[in-house]
Amino acid sequence: MASSRELRSPEPFLLLLLLLMAAVASSSAAAAAGNVVELTLLAGAQEKGAVCLDGSPPGYHLQRGFGSGEHSWLIFLEGGAWCNSIQSCSIRKMGVYGSSKFMKAAEFNGILSNDQQVNSDFYNWNKVVIRYCDGASFSGDAEAQDKDGSTLHFRGLRIWEAVVDELMEKGLATAKQAILSGCSAGGLAALLHCNDFHAKFPKEVSAKCLPDAGFFLDVEDLSGERHMWSVFNGTVHLQLYNAYSDFFFAFFYQNVKEVLPKSCLAKKDRTECFFPAELVKSITAPTLILNSAYDSWQIRNVVAPDGSFSGQSWSSCKTDIRNCSSTQIQVLNGFRNKFVDDVEVVKDNGGWGLFIDSCFTHCQTPFNFSWNSQASPVLGNKTIAKAVGDWYFERTYEVKEIDCEYPCNPTCSSQLPT
Ligand SMILES: *[C@@H]1O[C@H](CO)[C@@H](O)[C@H](O)[C@H]1NC(C)=O
Ligand SMILES: *[C@@H]1O[C@H](CO)[C@@H](O)[C@H](O)[C@H]1NC(C)=O
Ligand SMILES: *[C@@H]1O[C@H](CO)[C@@H](O)[C@H](O)[C@H]1NC(C)=O
Ligand SMILES: *[C@@H]1O[C@H](CO)[C@@H](O)[C@H](O)[C@H]1NC(C)=O
Repeated sequence: MASSRELRSPEPFLLLLLLLMAAVASSSAAAAAGNVVELTLLAGAQEKGAVCLDGSPPGYHLQRGFGSGEHSWLIFLEGGAWCNSIQSCSIRKMGVYGSSKFMKAAEFNGILSNDQQVNSDFYNWNKVVIRYCDGASFSGDAEAQDKDGSTLHFRGLRIWEAVVDELMEKGLATAKQAILSGCSAGGLAALLHCNDFHAKFPKEVSAKCLPDAGFFLDVEDLSGERHMWSVFNGTVHLQLYNAYSDFFFAFFYQNVKEVLPKSCLAKKDRTECFFPAELVKSITAPTLILNSAYDSWQIRNVVAPDGSFSGQSWSSCKTDIRNCSSTQIQVLNGFRNKFVDDVEVVKDNGGWGLFIDSCFTHCQTPFNFSWNSQASPVLGNKTIAKAVGDWYFERTYEVKEIDCEYPCNPTCSSQLPT
């Protein structure tokens, strides 16, 4: 039983690795065109213990704001799934999601674009992409021994703190407007660090959070297993707490830097507290949850992970939602309804926003195509770029949009990134 889980877990990582390359990671082809931003390695990383899985310094890309955007900052946390065992973290440390040795310059698109046509509200802001190399959504603080005797560093929380400290010195400290965003595992990280981010600024600063495709659900997969829960359980136990026994943890509770909300930990197990449905209950900063209720990554890896169904019955539907049978669509609607239930808890929060569309896609802010183009998803008559701008700048009373069931939205293009 346990082994079937282990066999299944690598798939999400590989898929997302490929997927997110297109978003913010670099390639020499990308370097030829567009808005390419160099990599900066964190200074003094080793002394701070703020290192990637392999012990290398973490990195980020900073593009300076200009004009009226000089004192506005967008911090974007890169995603790329999680590692949840010594074995999966050991593999990860040999690539771009575990070591800065493999990182290169990145192309900024969508909400990161410096082109006014694509990104009229944020084009001239200071923008930072913080690279993801810890495997636990910037939340771990522990270490373990790899099979070859070397150390595996689980220091995502220190990376978060050290990079933000360095950015504070580079001007973030005098920001008048600020957004913490990120997509996928980086969207989850934006939720995990939202309160901390908000608390770094004086009250008059407008600091808000924009998790994109980070709202992962704790649902049963096709075989009835809580597959996503198992993935998170591995990550949380390996990275967030492995340096402390439960006894130690209980004893020094006050001294351990706690990334999970204490109000949740008092009632629920740690793994459950890593899920957005719980995290949002403790977030006090204004937050817009941007996600598809038919999130393609979650359909592939949470609802129908390989091994949860027999034969090829779901292969074609997982690849392209247009190929799902009506029975399969019913299953996906079940997921969508759970999604709507889970976000219900924030519906009345003042200053919050919701943009929950029904398009088969994953991560909608860092691509020109989904962020703001003729083919962007539209909800409540707004593209994502317009909805996010209206919410952030409070140009409308509120932005709380939940789409109808698939396939009701004609603006869902089949060419959206999946
Ligand atoms: C995004 O839009 C900008 C501005 O038009 C353009 O320079 C860039 O190449 C586009 N990116 C991609 C990946 O098409
Ligand atoms: C959660 O992970 C821990 C640590 O790997 C493991 O001991 C425990 O059995 C897991 N819980 C479940 C219900 O699988
Ligand atoms: C979807 O169905 C069409 C028509 O049956 C088929 O040609 C196509 O290969 C299918 N796509 C996938 C990803 O299976
Ligand atoms: C949607 O936007 C278009 C163009 O901005 C406008 O003409 C139309 O009246 C709007 N529709 C609604 C329902 O608000």
